[in-house]
This record gives sequence, structure tokens and C-alpha cells, in this order.
Amino acid sequence: MENRLLGLLVEARSSIEKAASLDELENLRVNILGRKGTLTSLLKGLSDLPRELKPVIGKLANQIKEEILAALEKTRRILADVESQRRIVEGAVDVTLPGRSLPTGGTHPITRVTDEVCAIFKRMGFSVAQGPEIELDYYNFEALNIPKDHPARQMQDTFYVSDDVVLRTHTSPVQVRVMEKQAPPVKIIAPGRVYRCDSDLTHTPMFDQIEGLLVDKSVTFSDLKGVLIAFLHAFFGSSAEIRFRPSYFPFTEPSAEVDIECVMCKGSGCRVCGQTGWLEILGCGMVDPAVYKFVNYDPEEFTGFAFGMGVERLAMLRYGIDDLRLFFANDLRFLRQF
Ligand code: FA5
Ligand code: MG
Repeated sequence: MENRLLGLLVEARSSIEKAASLDELENLRVNILGRKGTLTSLLKGLSDLPRELKPVIGKLANQIKEEILAALEKTRRILADVESQRRIVEGAVDVTLPGRSLPTGGTHPITRVTDEVCAIFKRMGFSVAQGPEIELDYYNFEALNIPKDHPARQMQDTFYVSDDVVLRTHTSPVQVRVMEKQAPPVKIIAPGRVYRCDSDLTHTPMFDQIEGLLVDKSVTFSDLKGVLIAFLHAFFGSSAEIRFRPSYFPFTEPSAEVDIECVMCKGSGCRVCGQTGWLEILGCGMVDPAVYKFVNYDPEEFTGFAFGMGVERLAMLRYGIDDLRLFFANDLRFLRQF
């Protein structure tokens, strides 16, 4: 009996050590210690032993059972460790893999042109100012020498929010807001959105303008021409055909508009330029002394010029786009080309 017990221990230990998985180990436990297990069956023979041997063998059997349990526990720990290592390795994130890239956006052509225009004027010493898109009638019209009954109000189809509040129809109100706060010299540009009840190939109800204002002692119309031509040559290249045309604005005197030769037809006339061969890109002029009255500038001491250009028109000419509305349609096939 004693030999059989010791033999069982040796055999059990060796098979426990060889167990390759927790499942296999559990099977071994049942086969040895379970109700029909090898040790259990062996112990059933205990009752047949002579009285004096029973306690000795019983004690030995208990020790052997303890040792088998200890061996099972030891192997279980090792296998559990291996198992958890395997799970970590299988589930691990490989931090050296390249990430999935998201589709990248680009800068909208209108934003690009605005940035470029601002950069050119900054090089000439202008700083950037801003004003609200929802504007008081006072700044959009009155202080620009356009009283309520002035026929010039008809020039721009205004979206009225209330009697005194409008969606600004141009960036010119920023001129007044800046001069109100600051004594001359003033040298600013003011990019921003403006709104007019207008829609066709070259007009949209919302568009972008960039205003310019320079006020100082002895500023002349030739300074205005010099600055604008320098800008247009920087933006379109020195071979661009430019035309100054006399015009009228209530807040400038004298006034002019500037046209660029139509890029679609090279000046021969097409639907984009209305068969004229030219595309109007800006209005400009010497600041009317009537405007200085509203901001307490002395017209005897200071003169200045102002201009306001259409960013979409610049972009059309720059990129050869024949319909202004494409800029606002948000068609990715169009936008991806920039
Ligand atoms: C003005 O808005 C004046 N405030 C410009 C100005 C400023 C004159 C300072 C004197 C001194 P005008 O309405 O012409 O002027 O518009 C200026 C430019 O905006 C036009 O030359 C054109 O390039 C652009 N523009 C006008 N209406 C639209 C429109 N509906 N859609 C797109 N661009 C437009
Ligand atoms: Mg005009």
C-alpha cells in the first residue's frame, strides 16, 4: 500500500509538471483526487488494512494528498501566468504602426485670396482692422455722407434688419469706426463679408470685400494710384491690364473704379465681363471732407484715400473662374482644385 501511494505521488507529480494548459491540469486533478480518482480509489482499500497500519498509512495518504495539491497549485500559477502573458501579447497595440490618416481640408480660395491681399498691404505698412457684419445704418450710410433720402441708397440693395440696423452692404463703415477711435495718420485695411440683395454670374447676395483707408498730411490722388497699382501688380503680375475709370461714391471725391482685363476672353468680350472685356474689381477715391465732419478730422489739415475691392472678383480673375456662385456652392470637386 505504502509503495503504491508513493508510486502514485511520483506519477502524479510528473504528469502535473507536464500539463500544458489549465484545462489539462483540471482534468488531472479530477483523475487523481476526484470521486473516482486514482488516489480516492486507493484510499478505499484502507479499511482492509490491519488495525495497527491504518493510522500510519492514513497519515501518509494525507501527506501525499497535500503534496499533490501543492503540485497542482504550483503548476496552476505558472500556467495562469503564461496564459495572461499570451493575452497581453495578442491584445497589445503596436504603437509603431502608422496611424490612419483623416481626409485633410484645404483653405477656401476666398480665404487664400484674402490672406494674400492682406499680406501685400501689410508689406506696404497697412494694419488690419475689423467691424461688425450687422451694422448700424449710421455707419453703413449716414456717416458716409449717405443720408436717409439720398438717391445713392438705391445703388446698393440693402437687407434691412430694422429701420436703423442693416447687414452691411460694404466694408466702408469700418473706415468710420476706425477714424472715430483714432487720430490721423491712419493706414488700415479691413477684410470682411458684406451683403446685398443681388444675384447673377458676377454678383452674389453675400460676398467679401477688403476696404483700405489711408489718411495723413498731404495725401494725393497719385498716392492712391501708386498704392493700388503697386498692389495690382503684386497680385496679378506686372503685365496685367489695369484701367482707372471715373465713378461716383458719396463718401469719396473724386472717385474712380478700377477694372482688370477679363481673363476669360482676354479683353475681346464674353458673358462674364458683359461683352466689355473688363471686370470691375474695386471702387476708390479721395475721402470726401463731409465724412471727416462725422469723425472730427480737420479737412484743412488731413487728406486721404479709400478703396474697397471685391475678393470674389479677384479670385475669379486669379483662378479663371467664370461663375462667382461656385465659391459658395461647397462642391468638393470644385474646392479640391485649389
Ligand atoms: C463699394 O462697395 C464701395 N464701398 C467701394 C469704395 C470703398 C469706394 C472706398 C470708395 C472708397 P461697389 O458697390 O462698387 O463699391 O463694390 C465694390 C466692389 O465689390 C466691386 O468693384 C466688385 O468687385 C465687388 N462687388 C460688388 N457687388 C458685388 C456682388 N454682389 N458680388 C460680388 N462682388 C461684388
Ligand atoms: Mg461698383
